[in-house]
Amino acid sequence: MKIIEKEDYNELSKEAAKIIISQIKKKPNSVIGFATGNTVLGLYKELIKAHKKGLDFSKITSFNLDEYLNLPKSDKQSLNFFMKHNLFNHINIKKINMPDGTAKNPKNFCKDYENKIRLNKIDLQILGIGRNGHIGFNEPGSKFTSRTRIVNLSKQTIKENSKFFKNKKVPKKAISLGISTILKSKKIILLAAGKNKARAIKNLIKGKITEKVPATALRKHKNVTVIIDKEANSILRGI
Ligand code: F6R
Repeated sequence: MKIIEKEDYNELSKEAAKIIISQIKKKPNSVIGFATGNTVLGLYKELIKAHKKGLDFSKITSFNLDEYLNLPKSDKQSLNFFMKHNLFNHINIKKINMPDGTAKNPKNFCKDYENKIRLNKIDLQILGIGRNGHIGFNEPGSKFTSRTRIVNLSKQTIKENSKFFKNKKVPKKAISLGISTILKSKKIILLAAGKNKARAIKNLIKGKITEKVPATALRKHKNVTVIIDKEANSILRGI
């Protein structure tokens, strides 16, 4: 696992963008796995800037990691909406794949999504990390062998998400790529910024490999780059 520590969030976002831009330049028809959340916002701003300077996304295929169950794509809190608003509407990407939280038969949807990923191997998967060590919505206890499926969100994740949902009911279930699905990606980058991620980063890099901390599965993968800022690295550095 390669660890890159950057001075701050801005530098971290630029470093991640550099990796994705070089992947797209090397292989214009790359398959890219996208994540949502606060951490990737800076990276997506950099990708939009790169597109304005000519970076072509037209041959890229995307797969997103997760979506809330029963939340329509048009809902402002849906991850579909997040991706459109923060990235897809601003670049010339055409082949977009996102989990559909309102699919008629969500179980069949998960199977089809998993199969589609198997046929279109992800070249580069972008990940954030939850404070509890989740990746995608694979919460603590998720099997390392898990595939795309319907998951129950942990109490902590539901509490953290409640700030986005204001007065509305926070979804308790989601569709998520499995851990084994994520591990099939050729290359993975994981981004983490801020003090509140320091414990998860310590566990990811130095902790025991265990299903209690889903991100530790990444230590079994040959090509993972973890990009963190000083604060996310603060426990490991003993600050
Ligand atoms: C989102 C996702 C989650 C987030 C994680 C970190 O698609 O899969 O695993 O990456 O919860 O979220 P932020 O960046 O908001 O701290």
